[in-house]
Amino acid sequence: EKVVLAYSGGLDTSIIVPWLKENYDLEVIAACINVGQDDDMEEVKEKAISSGASKIYIEEVTEEFLSDYVFKALKAGAMYEGRYLLGTAYARPLMAKKLVEIAHKEGAKYICHGCTGKGNDQVRFEVGVASFDPTIKIIAPWREWDIESREDAIDYAQSKGIKLSVTKEKIYSRDQNIWHISHEGGEIEGLGNEHMEEDFYMMTTPPKDAPDVEEYVEVEFYKGTPVAVNGEKLGAVELVSKLNEIGGRNGIGIIDIVENRLVGMKSRGVYETPGGTILYKALEDLESICMDKESWAFKKSMALKYAELTYNGLWFSPLKEAMDCLVEKLQEGVSGTVKLKLYKGNIKVAGKWSENALYDEEVSSFGASDLYNHSDAEGFIKLFSLPSKINAMMKQKKGL
Ligand code: ARG
Ligand code: SIN
Repeated sequence: EKVVLAYSGGLDTSIIVPWLKENYDLEVIAACINVGQDDDMEEVKEKAISSGASKIYIEEVTEEFLSDYVFKALKAGAMYEGRYLLGTAYARPLMAKKLVEIAHKEGAKYICHGCTGKGNDQVRFEVGVASFDPTIKIIAPWREWDIESREDAIDYAQSKGIKLSVTKEKIYSRDQNIWHISHEGGEIEGLGNEHMEEDFYMMTTPPKDAPDVEEYVEVEFYKGTPVAVNGEKLGAVELVSKLNEIGGRNGIGIIDIVENRLVGMKSRGVYETPGGTILYKALEDLESICMDKESWAFKKSMALKYAELTYNGLWFSPLKEAMDCLVEKLQEGVSGTVKLKLYKGNIKVAGKWSENALYDEEVSSFGASDLYNHSDAEGFIKLFSLPSKINAMMKQKKGL
């Protein structure tokens, strides 16, 4: 019997390999789903095999991750609790989908992941797997074994002869992909501790060390999807990498927040999303000129729900998919270019252009125009104020 293990090459997933063989007597097929994390895949491969996996799949899905997950949510304006750009939450359902594909190829009945029993990721993996194959059984070692600390884990690894590259930085629980990196744990758990800036950020220059001159960047969108940076047409991966570089060197996209986990507790995290933050800002601004008032307001009210479903692992749910259809339609007219000015962690919109703009300088300007006659406003206001008048008359009659 075989088990497919979601494998990252880190300490946790490495010790799972011998543990699975010992406790479940299963053949371990490791699967590393590459969504643009900054790891050496050759090294990951070697580690998996030397820990005792019989085989490793390296699935390169960064392009799919951006096009089918991140960009859809960007168009929906999804931000969990109004702030978190959901980098980890987009990756887990895609990983789950790939794990199921591999399990089917290998005839494996089990899928194993290295998430703890206290987080969101376990839920996202398992809901994702269930959405594609409800017969697959999940093994979650962190909910079973008595390894409780990193020190225990290191001891266990050493007793099994597993090579480790544990470094000081590993005190944080980090999760990286092309869209973001998250940092949790360590001294961040104390709310009074300011998070360090030096030797901490991995995608961003600390704002105070960013260049003393402002940098302009232009992003072009087609129907809500980003397609070019500074006039150069780019595929999704190149585009986000480029914006990560530009945003990163200008200290853009760092947040330090307390969020509500699905499993009940609050947790503090620091996130770096340099390119993503530029994209959200630019698209929101383009929408303001291309989208009609009612559509925008409706989309905005839906964004919170979209983010919540995503955060909670319900990416493949009927409601989330229906929302994507609506968003697709609402973004049809959102094409154009936004120019932003970046400076030490700040973003200012410096200009915007769209052939679909609903903003009409002539109508909006304070002067007179053919489409808008000042005196028409009088009749409009008479009718618009009718409910207010009636309400006031009723109150007067009752002496209120
Ligand atoms: N709190 C974030 C989320 O739930 C980040 C989780 C990071 N996961 C990890 N395995 N380090 O999306
Ligand atoms: C974990 O607990 O495995 C990571 C954090 C999370 O899932 O929220």
